[in-house]
Amino acid sequence: MRIPKELQECGAETAIILGSGLGGFVESLPHDFSVEYGAIEGLPASGVPGHAGRFIVTKLAGCPLLVAQGRVHLYEGWSAQDVVKNIQLMHAIGIKKLLLTNAAGTLNKSFVPGSWMMLSDHINLLGASPLRGGPNFIDMSEIYSLRLRRLFHEAAKDSRLTLHEGVYAAMPGPQFETPAEIRMLQAIGADAVGMSTVPEAIQARALGMEVAGFSCLTNWAAGLSPTLLSHEDVNAVGRRAAGQMAELLIRAIVGI
Ligand code: HPA
Repeated sequence: MRIPKELQECGAETAIILGSGLGGFVESLPHDFSVEYGAIEGLPASGVPGHAGRFIVTKLAGCPLLVAQGRVHLYEGWSAQDVVKNIQLMHAIGIKKLLLTNAAGTLNKSFVPGSWMMLSDHINLLGASPLRGGPNFIDMSEIYSLRLRRLFHEAAKDSRLTLHEGVYAAMPGPQFETPAEIRMLQAIGADAVGMSTVPEAIQARALGMEVAGFSCLTNWAAGLSPTLLSHEDVNAVGRRAAGQMAELLIRAIVGI
């Protein structure tokens, strides 16, 4: 991969990846510069609506922050190794703390759509790992940093924002789940379901980064409400909820 010099020298140690419809977070921040994924040789670029593909470097309280607006997914046909090229790039330029965001369906009756859930753990049902191909027996017992989780809970309290915590199940998609699959996910202990984040978290931990994950709960999972699921609805709820989260992230990132 050929990494542009301005990214190599941006000086950021914290990065955030923005998922479906959550890109609005960066609109209000001043951009030092941005680079389209497509302009970086060896980095896959997405074709999914709601997933603009670019890196933006901004500053929060004088500290550089790398924002990845959009990601690629296994369901687009990319491999688990392809979808973590962004993480390898981040590691190469010195990123040490990674915040992953996604849109997800909620399976937990107490976590209503429009609210946010911080990931305490995940269940990988993708049938794939970015670490496949070598003896990469990496410990995953605290994949989502307890230190960061405490910090974000504090920030949420200060912002009076409800921040749930729970287990994210990653399904391969691209179709949404069936009601029977959702009942299975509830039975195995998942609180939310989505189609991303897990390969990136695994790769980031394997590279020694400190990771936090956030799900914007955009809808009741299949079978839990009479409404049918649509990507447009998911994006619309994500856009509305992104504003509150921006406040929390901006408050907390400065302290991490
Ligand atoms: N299932 C899977 N992925 C999702 C969902 C869902 O209900 N909502 C947003 N992303």
